[in-house]
Amino acid sequence: MAAPRILLIVGGGIAAYKSIELVRLLRKAGMTVRCVLTRAGEQFVTPLTLAALGENKVYTSLFDLKDEVEMGHIELSREADLVVVAPATADLLAKMAAGIADDLATTLLLATDKPVLAAPAMNVRMWLHAATRRNVATLRGDGVTVMEPDEGEMACGEYGPGRLPEPAAIKAAIDRALANPPTIVPLTGQPDFAPANHRPLFGRRILITAGPTHEPIDPVRYIANRSSGKQGFAIAAAAAEAGAEVLLIAGPVPLPTPPGVIRVDVETATQMAAEVQEGLPVDAAIMVAAVADWRAAETAGQKIKKDGSGQVPPLALAENPDILASVAKSPERPPLLVGFAAETNDVIAHAQAKLARKGCDWIVANDVSADPMGGESNRVHIVSKDGVDSWDRLPKQAVARKLMEKIADELEKRIPLERD
Ligand code: C5P
Repeated sequence: MAAPRILLIVGGGIAAYKSIELVRLLRKAGMTVRCVLTRAGEQFVTPLTLAALGENKVYTSLFDLKDEVEMGHIELSREADLVVVAPATADLLAKMAAGIADDLATTLLLATDKPVLAAPAMNVRMWLHAATRRNVATLRGDGVTVMEPDEGEMACGEYGPGRLPEPAAIKAAIDRALANPPTIVPLTGQPDFAPANHRPLFGRRILITAGPTHEPIDPVRYIANRSSGKQGFAIAAAAAEAGAEVLLIAGPVPLPTPPGVIRVDVETATQMAAEVQEGLPVDAAIMVAAVADWRAAETAGQKIKKDGSGQVPPLALAENPDILASVAKSPERPPLLVGFAAETNDVIAHAQAKLARKGCDWIVANDVSADPMGGESNRVHIVSKDGVDSWDRLPKQAVARKLMEKIADELEKRIPLERD
């Protein structure tokens, strides 16, 4: 495979110095990096530093492209596999959300047809300001992957969310975006869900598991189930639409990555468990995946052959980790932990038992007696220690949106965000 090409746009702000380390990490991983520095960015890092580390010309203004024969701005915006904005300042995010193109960086961001990943860095008040919340939510709705900033002490002495994520975390997000590019919202028309008119999950990190797992028996056979992943993917889409940073850990399903969602693909329950652990801490985790209960105790290195004797090969099983139950017990247990349960009978009684057994806060009990896995609608009951909230049968997207409203309200009660 050709080396991935990154167009890195470095905005202004004290965190710009971290872009130097990011370029080093990307180069070390064999990626090609072309850098664009905004005018404000130039106050913090020099083009020479980035050019030396990136081993590539650095562009700072539209005039750098005056000989359009060499490289036009349209070409520059499209030759990369991924456009990364780090640090993404409040000003850059606002311009991106509004479609303003008044310098080289913003012109490239408007002209590109490639996925865009933004790593924000700004003062905590600026990050929590209603204008930035709107802009980030608009960008996520447009399919831009906007990372949540880190929380901590800021250069200006204040404390809270707004620090640029560490270069290694940005590199990991770049790897994920390259492996699973988010769906780019079509040029005309809206995505196939109506954008919500408010963003109740802005500033929240949400982890979602979805789809089945495949447990290999030998290189060509596996144990699986009929989960389509549709409900989990609809939940991930609705969470991003509501403004959250969404990490979707998906079993093998041929579904497109919803706009603005960070996706990690896995095959087995063991891999899913490891990625979930890696994804913590989060504000809420929603475990929608139909994780296989068992895997083959031994995986054959070569295809198991019929030998003509009529003898059936033994298939010993081993139990898979219960991801939901172990997250519930972990020191990084999210403040809100939600499980799913597909039931055909005694739906609520089984869900109540599962709630206690798994140690989660809610079980979304899914009545699959009429409509088995893979359908387009769901009738769910949200079972918690406080009671049962039963919803009518609804399309999976509507279930997802309603669930996000409920989760946003619950998070506001459990861990209120400081808002202006
Ligand atoms: O035990 P059961 O499979 O019915 O539980 C369903 C819930 O537990 C779902 O939320 C599912 O994602 C989660 N689960 C899990 N790891 C397992 C089995 C189930 O996280 N090994």
